[in-house]
Amino acid sequence: MYLKRLSLINFKNIGQQELPLAAGINCFVGDNGAGKTNFIDAVYYLSMSKSAFGMTDTQSVRHGEEFFLLEGQYAHADGRNEQIVCSFARRGGKVLKRNGKEYDRLSEHVGLIPVVIVSPADASLVSDAADERRRYLNGCISQLDRGYLNAVMRYNAVLSERNRYLKIGSDEDMLLIYDRQLAEQGQLIHAKRQEFVGRLQPVVETYYARLSGERERIELLYRSELSETPFLELLQRSRQRDLVNQFTTSGIHRDDLVLRINGYPLRKFGSQGQQKSFLVALKLAQYRLVDEQRGEKPILLLDDLFDKLDTGRVEQLIRLVSGDDFGQILITDCNKVRLERILGRQKCPYVLNVVENGGIIR
Ligand SMILES: Nc1ncnc2c1ncn2[C@@H]1O[C@H](COP(=O)(O)OP(=O)(O)OP(=O)(O)O)[C@@H](O)[C@H]1O
Ligand SMILES: [Mg+2]
Repeated sequence: MYLKRLSLINFKNIGQQELPLAAGINCFVGDNGAGKTNFIDAVYYLSMSKSAFGMTDTQSVRHGEEFFLLEGQYAHADGRNEQIVCSFARRGGKVLKRNGKEYDRLSEHVGLIPVVIVSPADASLVSDAADERRRYLNGCISQLDRGYLNAVMRYNAVLSERNRYLKIGSDEDMLLIYDRQLAEQGQLIHAKRQEFVGRLQPVVETYYARLSGERERIELLYRSELSETPFLELLQRSRQRDLVNQFTTSGIHRDDLVLRINGYPLRKFGSQGQQKSFLVALKLAQYRLVDEQRGEKPILLLDDLFDKLDTGRVEQLIRLVSGDDFGQILITDCNKVRLERILGRQKCPYVLNVVENGGIIR
């Protein structure tokens, strides 16, 4: 599947733009603040119905305007076409349509057009608290598994009900009802996370080795209390503590991904470029898994290609993604000369878009 044509109205600093895209590599170059990342985010929006950068719908409407509208025309590998429209009005809210028909729920759309993004914002996956990594994991698995997203939404709903109840009551039977519901969804989520990370791990290691020229060894592990103890038992064991704290102190909402380099925590002992390489390897592995499971190559968004990577690693990255294993790619960089030099050296065909002031000028 690839995006053939993108239309934008009032999306961030982009007033109005129509943009044909190639099935292979599409480059966006221009100065800082020109709007390159905004184009990337628009493509992400059409797949995930939200910003990749934590901007709210309201913040994504161009200043002084009332709405934004994004339209994507996609072509499947078998020739079928797909039209997705995502619009948001300050007063009317968000509407998502597939081939003219509105979705009942936005979550029904997630996964139809798989997308994987690599951007400087990924750094928060290494530097921030565990909930950032859980959010990432949820996003990945949701694109592969509709049931997973539903389980997470149900789990979160029961969790907040249980937490609310812990502030006002302590009835054993009541808590047991919550516990059973949490355990049912929680065990399912745990099993899927474990399975996903298990499959991801060897692929991340392989990609990292290729990016770094086998300089360092990395590890990716899934850590969860549920790996040692069944959830229901955990909940019963921590009940007294929950009543004292007035919230649920154990469960899959405390899971984490452990990232290590040469046996040590990546956050403390990885250089900036090593951390970035880890994240790139992680995203490429995610890409591989989606392709394998869905038989559909995601759209790959490489925002700020040279961010923290040395030329050797950027070249290796381009070599990796320009092969047959990858499909459509959107790349941004502020330096046209540098980007063209790298792509030229790999002899891969590409289309160049020059971005200025929220528009494509060439
Ligand atoms: N809702 C909005 N309305 C108008 N302008 C906006 C809105 N949201 C963001 N912008 C503007 O978009 C610009 C940033 O665009 P973008 O992040 O795409 O730049 P970029 O080309 O990727 O730059 P860099 O090279 O620094 O990454 C900023 O000038 C920002 O103020
Ligand atoms: Mg940018």
